[in-house]
Amino acid sequence: MDNFTFYSPTYFVFGKGEENNAGHYVKRFGGTKVLIHYGGGSAVRSGLIGRVEKSLEEQGILYVELGGVKPNPRSGLVYEGIDLCRRENVDFILAVGGGSSIDSSKAIAAGVPYDGDFWDFYSGTPITKALPVGTVLTIAAAGSEGSGDSVITREEGMLKRGASGEAIRPVFSILNPELTETLPPYQTACGITDIMAHLFERYFTNTKDVETTDRMIEGLLLAMINEGPKAVKEPGNYQARANIMWAGMMAHNNSCGVGRSQDWASHGIEHELSAKYDCAHGAGLAVVFPAWMKYNYKHDIMRFAQVATRVWGCHMDFSNPENTALAGIEAFRNFLRGIGMPLTFEELGAKEEDIPYMADLATGDGKIGGFVALAKEDVEAIYRLCL
Ligand code: NZQ
Ligand code: ZN
Repeated sequence: MDNFTFYSPTYFVFGKGEENNAGHYVKRFGGTKVLIHYGGGSAVRSGLIGRVEKSLEEQGILYVELGGVKPNPRSGLVYEGIDLCRRENVDFILAVGGGSSIDSSKAIAAGVPYDGDFWDFYSGTPITKALPVGTVLTIAAAGSEGSGDSVITREEGMLKRGASGEAIRPVFSILNPELTETLPPYQTACGITDIMAHLFERYFTNTKDVETTDRMIEGLLLAMINEGPKAVKEPGNYQARANIMWAGMMAHNNSCGVGRSQDWASHGIEHELSAKYDCAHGAGLAVVFPAWMKYNYKHDIMRFAQVATRVWGCHMDFSNPENTALAGIEAFRNFLRGIGMPLTFEELGAKEEDIPYMADLATGDGKIGGFVALAKEDVEAIYRLCL
C-alpha cells in the first residue's frame, strides 16, 4: 500500500424526510443567502424544491433560484449563476439534484470569489477558494455529493473537462433514498453503471498488497449486483434505493481508492462520448468499460481473474487463468445488458467516423490511464471494440 492522506469532511444526513431539514444545515454551515440550483424540472414536479424553500424560510434564510441545469452541465449556466450570486450577495450554494446540478453548483461556487474566468479551473488551475456548497441528492450515480470534483462542458467545441479541489467538496449532503424512487429505470441503471465504474477505476491498480481496499471495492460491487436489478425492476424498493445511494457515495469519496494507483482512462474515453453525443455518462461507461477491460486484461490477468471469482462467482481455471479473466468481463457485460444498458456505439448513437477525433481529444498531448498508459492509437482501438 502507498502512503496517503485522507480528509473527507462532508457531513452526511441520510434518510426519509431529511430534505425538510435543509434550512437547518445551511444555517449550521454559515449560509445566510442561498442560491438553490437545480436541473430540468424533476425536482420541481416532485415538490422537492417547494419543501427545500419552506425549510429555508423556517430558518429565516433568504434565497434566489436558478434552474435549468442539463445532464452534462454547460458552462453558459455557470456564468449566469456566478453573475446572479455576485448581484444578490449569495454566500451559500445549495444543489438540488444529481451530479449535473451538483457539479454546476461547484463551478459557480468556485467562480464567484475568483477574478478570472472560471474555466481556468477546468483547464488545470487548482481550486483553492469557493463558496460553501450543500447538496440534496436525487440520483445515486456520480458521487459528486461526497467528492471534490466537478465536470463541466464548454459549449464552444463541446469540451467536457473536470476540476478538483478540497474547497468544492460539499460541506453537507442530504441523502434521502425516497427521492430517487421517481427515477426512470434507465436513469437508475445509468447510475448503477457509473457507481460500478468508479469502483473499477480504483480496482485496476498496479499497487500491490491492497487487500483492505480490494475487499471494500469487491463488497460494494457485490452490493450493486444484488441491489441494482431490484431498484431497476421495483422503483419504489426503498431498501434497494438506500443501499445503492450509500454505495454511490462510498464508491467515489475515495475511501476505496486511497493507498493505491488508480486508472481513470475509461472515464476520459467516455467523457468524449457524452460531450459529443450528449448521452448519459453511465450509458457511455456501459459501452466503454467492458471494451477497456478486453483491451487491457493481459496487463494483469490475475487481477481480472480475482474480480471474476470473488465478485462474479466465476470458476477459477488454474490451468488457464485467462479464461477466468474473460469470463468475468463477459459476466459484467451480461449484467449491464440485464439492467438495460447499451453495449455498442450503435445503441448509444455514436458514429465510427468520429473515433479519431474523440481519441485525439481524450489523449490530448500525452497518454491516459494509471493501470495501462494508453496512447491515441490504443484509445482508437478501444472505441473500435465498441462498434
Ligand atoms: O434535470 P432533471 O429534471 O432533474 O432530470 C435529471 C436528468 O435528466 C434526472 N433526475 C435526477 N434525479 C431524478 C431525476 N428524474 C426523476 N427523479 C429523480 N429523482 O436524471 C437525469 C440525470 O441527472 P444527472 O444529474 O445528469 O445525473 P448524474 O448524477 O448521473 O450526473 C451526471 C454528471 O456527473 C458527471 C458526469 O460526467 C455527468 O456530467 N460526473 C461527475 C463526477 C463528480 N463530480 O465527482 C464524477 C462522475 O464520474 C461523473 O463524471
Ligand atoms: Zn463516473
